[in-house]
Amino acid sequence: MITVIANLKGGSGKSTVAFNLAVWLETNQRSVVGYDLDPQCTLSDLAMLRSEIGNKPDLEIHSMRAVLRDHLLSHGDMEVLVDVGAANMAAMKEAITAADRILVPVPPSQADVWATQRFLHIIGPDTSAMRVNQNQQMVAFVNRADKHKSIRETHETEAALRMLPGIDTVLPQRLRLRTGYRRSLSEGMTVFEMWPNSKAAEEFRAFAAALYPDISEIPAKITMSELA
Ligand SMILES: Nc1ncnc2c1ncn2[C@@H]1O[C@H](COP(=O)(O)OP(=O)(O)O)[C@@H](O)[C@H]1O
Ligand SMILES: [Mg+2]
Repeated sequence: MITVIANLKGGSGKSTVAFNLAVWLETNQRSVVGYDLDPQCTLSDLAMLRSEIGNKPDLEIHSMRAVLRDHLLSHGDMEVLVDVGAANMAAMKEAITAADRILVPVPPSQADVWATQRFLHIIGPDTSAMRVNQNQQMVAFVNRADKHKSIRETHETEAALRMLPGIDTVLPQRLRLRTGYRRSLSEGMTVFEMWPNSKAAEEFRAFAAALYPDISEIPAKITMSELA
């Protein structure tokens, strides 16, 4: 399946989600190939850091390719994850024509809902006729969600996303704002490798399992630091 992780705004968590998902899939016995089409190259940097440190599993990440669409379509049954940024709109649109699914992380704010609306508006007409998979799914979810139930923005953002034409599903499995993401990334690790029993890990696993319902997860190992 080809999953493109996209939206217009930087900092919404595309690369973080792409990286954590790629490792989660590999850990659960899926073969993954990643594409980093953002000139910021965050996903490639993370994969490189990971291999320098010696963390396993390794990730196979490609950078921009000519005839991108053909490359994306050439991987058969492998899971393909594509991290795209607005800095390369041409690549974003080309990747979206090949996608089975577009995953859109949205931070909980009005500005991010507007940016998502604009994103749908920009990509819709340009890519619809070219799509390989006519059942392509647009899946949005709130990333960096508020931890406290009393804060309204997360609910309001989800409600607004549900109203947007062009979005097929709003995942109820939101990812909350957790410092663990930043810390684990700086070690070339995912939240569920670094702190397998943390809330961040639990949330991420629920999120990934919702995206890949046919995968039955291998139980997490408890680390020594968590036992201490
Ligand atoms: N759910 C989250 N909680 C806390 N920090 C997050 C979360 N998602 C992403 N981040 C952090 O936000 C920053 C931007 O994320 P990044 O994935 O680089 O965004 P993008 O690729 O969309 O520009 C990174 O430092 C990342 O670790
Ligand atoms: Mg990025």
